Amino acid sequence: MKTDRTQVGIVGAGPAGLMLAHLLRLEGIESVVLETRSREYVEHRVRAGVLEQGTVDLMNETGLGDRLRREGLVHRGIEIRWDGRAKRIPLSDLAGGRAITIYGQQEVVKDLIAARLAGDGPIHFEVGSVALSGIDTNAPIVRYRHEGTDRELRCDVIAGCDGFHGVSREAIPATGRTEFHHEYPFAWLGILAAVPPSTEELIYAHHERGFALHSLRSPEVSRLYIQVDPDEDIERWPDARIWDELRIRLGLEGWHLNDGPVIEKGIAAMRSFVVEPMQHGRLFLAGDAAHIVPATGAKGLNLAVADVRVLARALAAWYATGDAGRLDRYTAECLRRVWRAQDFSATMSAMLHAYPGHDEFTQRRQRAQLDYLATSEAAARSLAENYVGLPFD
Ligand code: FAD
Ligand code: PHB
Repeated sequence: MKTDRTQVGIVGAGPAGLMLAHLLRLEGIESVVLETRSREYVEHRVRAGVLEQGTVDLMNETGLGDRLRREGLVHRGIEIRWDGRAKRIPLSDLAGGRAITIYGQQEVVKDLIAARLAGDGPIHFEVGSVALSGIDTNAPIVRYRHEGTDRELRCDVIAGCDGFHGVSREAIPATGRTEFHHEYPFAWLGILAAVPPSTEELIYAHHERGFALHSLRSPEVSRLYIQVDPDEDIERWPDARIWDELRIRLGLEGWHLNDGPVIEKGIAAMRSFVVEPMQHGRLFLAGDAAHIVPATGAKGLNLAVADVRVLARALAAWYATGDAGRLDRYTAECLRRVWRAQDFSATMSAMLHAYPGHDEFTQRRQRAQLDYLATSEAAARSLAENYVGLPFD
C-alpha cells in the first residue's frame, strides 16, 4: 500500500471535480483528482452544451476562456414552437443583457484537463476500487487502486464530484442524509449530427407526439433531441426514423430541417434528485453527486460549476483563517440555487413534454402556459431570467 497526502482529495474528473481543482490551485491549495474512466473517455463524452453567463464569466476570470471566446457561440434568444406557432424569447433583452454560450461540455472538460496538466497538478485516470473512509474525522482517506498498486490518499477534506452513480454520496450514513427523487415518464434520445444547424438559435418544440429540441455545437455540427419512453430501446430508432420524427415535431411552415450523418446517439433518463445536506463531516458533495435536474432547463453542468465555486471560496477562507463558517454554510448556499433550478427545470419539462395517456386537461394547461409565454412579457422575462442563470452573489 502506497500512501500520499494532499489537502483536498477530489473524486471524479467531470466538470465539478476539474473546475474545483482549477479554482483551488488559483488559491494555492493542493489537490489530487481521481477518475475511474480514461482521459480519452471523459474528453469525448457528449453531454451538455449550454453555458450560463455565470459559468462563462468564471471560465474567463480564471484564465480558461481562450478557446471558449474563439469557438463558443453566444446566443441571445431561444425559440419555442407549438401548434404550428413559433415564439422567440429574447433572453438578453429580458435578462439585463445576459446571454448563454453554446460550448460542448467535453470542450470545457478538455480545457480544464489541459489547465490541470499545464499546472503539474496530479490527476489519475483509470483508478479502481475507490472507497472513502474517516469522513467523520479530521483526516479522511480515499483508498483506490492505480496501475496495479493499492494506494491511499490522506486528505484534510474530500470533495465527492463523482456524478450521480459515484461512491461518495453512499459514504454518508443513510441516517445522515435525506434524498428527494422524482422520475419523469419520458427520456431523451439525443443525436450529434455532422450537418449545419437548420437554425441560428435553439428551438424547443412541444408536439402531441412528444417534445423535440434543436440545438447545435458549431456551424457544422447539430445536436438534436426527441422525447421517447423511459424504457425505449435505441435499436428501434434507425437514423431515418429519428430524422422523420424530428421533421414532424419541429415542423413549421416554410422551415426546412437539414439532415445528415449521425455521429453519436444515446438515450438519457430524465430525473430530479437532491440529497440534503451536501456535506457530512469532512466530505463535501458537488454537482451530479448531490443533485440531478431534467435536461430541459440546461442547468446540470452550470449547477456543478456553481457548487464548486462556493466550495473553493469556503475552503480558501478556512485555510487562510481557520474559520469554518463558510464551509458550514456550503449546503445552504448551494441548495438555494439547486432548488430554484429544480423548479425551473421541472416547470419547463412539464410545459413542453407530451404526457402518456394524452390527458386533455394537461394538454389544455400546457397550451395556456405556452400562450401566456407568447403574450406576456412578465412570463417571458421569468423564463429568460432563469434560463440565462441567476447571478452569483
Ligand atoms: P459528471 O460529469 O458525471 O462527472 C463525474 C465524474 O466522476 C465522471 O467522469 C465519472 O466517470 C467519475 N466517477 C464516477 N464514479 C467514480 C468513482 N467511484 N471514482 C472516481 N471517479 C468516478 N447540463 C447543462 O448545464 N446544460 C445542458 O445543456 C445539459 N444537457 C445535458 C444533456 C444530456 C444528454 C445529459 C446526459 C446531461 C446534460 N446536462 C446538461 C447535465 C450535465 O451533463 C451534468 O450535470 C454534468 O456532467 C455534471 O457534472 P459533474 O462533474 O457533477 O458530474
Ligand atoms: C444541448 O445542446 O445539448 C442542450 C441544449 C439545451 C438543453 C439541453 C441540452 O435544454
